[in-house]
Amino acid sequence: MNERVVMLMFLICFASGLLPGGLGAYTQHNPATGFTFIVFESLADETNSWYDARAKCRIHSEYADLAEITAPSDVTTVENLLTNSQAASTSFWFGIYDHLSENAFKSLYDGSDITFEKWDGGRPKNDANKNCGTVVSSNSRWRDEACTGSKMRGVLCRMLTPIPPSSIDPNTGCRPTMVPFGGLCYDFRLLGIGNFSHARQACEAHPSGRMVVPNGQTEADFVHLYAMLTGQTDFWLGITDEYIDDDLRSIYGPDLSYDNWHATGSGVILLEIDCAYIDAVTGDWYTDNCGELKSIMCTVVPPSQGNLKFGSFVFRVVVELQSCNAKYYP
Ligand SMILES: *[C@@H]1O[C@H](CO)[C@@H](O)[C@H](O)[C@H]1NC(C)=O
Repeated sequence: MNERVVMLMFLICFASGLLPGGLGAYTQHNPATGFTFIVFESLADETNSWYDARAKCRIHSEYADLAEITAPSDVTTVENLLTNSQAASTSFWFGIYDHLSENAFKSLYDGSDITFEKWDGGRPKNDANKNCGTVVSSNSRWRDEACTGSKMRGVLCRMLTPIPPSSIDPNTGCRPTMVPFGGLCYDFRLLGIGNFSHARQACEAHPSGRMVVPNGQTEADFVHLYAMLTGQTDFWLGITDEYIDDDLRSIYGPDLSYDNWHATGSGVILLEIDCAYIDAVTGDWYTDNCGELKSIMCTVVPPSQGNLKFGSFVFRVVVELQSCNAKYYP
């Protein structure tokens, strides 16, 4: 059957306010891959942290992240950008990592193995302390370096341009700022820090938004990885004993089908309302007083996709309610 799918998208913003112009930046577009590469004007935007570099890209635009270089045409685009700009850094952070398995570098974009490589001589070093990718300005080749604490580097970002008008990936139903996994969209974008109830409100401000409650090892590992890649330490999970003291439950159902408490246990304190969080470095779960401040991550169900059929047309109706302003709390 030859159906035509017509996407009708209604994007309804309930909070207005666009991002400020962003940091002073140079850009170069690669029409072959559809990405625009970005470096910042000022050496003051150098950082010694790959995670901080990610955050700088996201401040520039909620659709930007650390760059990936996936084709020879990207290499040429980045070389032109570095030549044409006044960006003076001798090396730049970019978006590949091998935290999971030594020398198995992954795409920050979707977690897949990288398929294009342009390593400098003797790299990668097979060094468990060098998990983050950098580009050397002089030869545009790559090195693996310690993700934090090594030298100050520039930041090489990338964003898809033009941003698709729907701002929803038709394959996953997720906004490009979110990570698809197991039929849900996950938001790890430094949504801020707050106490447990603030985190719950922030997640549930979206009509289908929820706090994260991993329901098995696979989801827990995924959440651990992406939480870790933000560089933040502790993220609230949607688990608390506020209903019955010392009885930790999901806020969305009575039973915890899975848990990953640290070997010493959940650490619940009797006669205190405790809430669960994941240590983004180790992936272990702990509890703490719900009034403490921790990072916020959320899931949303991909926007409802009702298919309305008229003859040979299928209208896919996508309604997305979203907050339109990106927030960043350092
Ligand atoms: C949580 O934070 C909100 C502000 O975001 C505050 O009004 C509330 O009192 C705090 N709750 C606790 C338990 O600390």
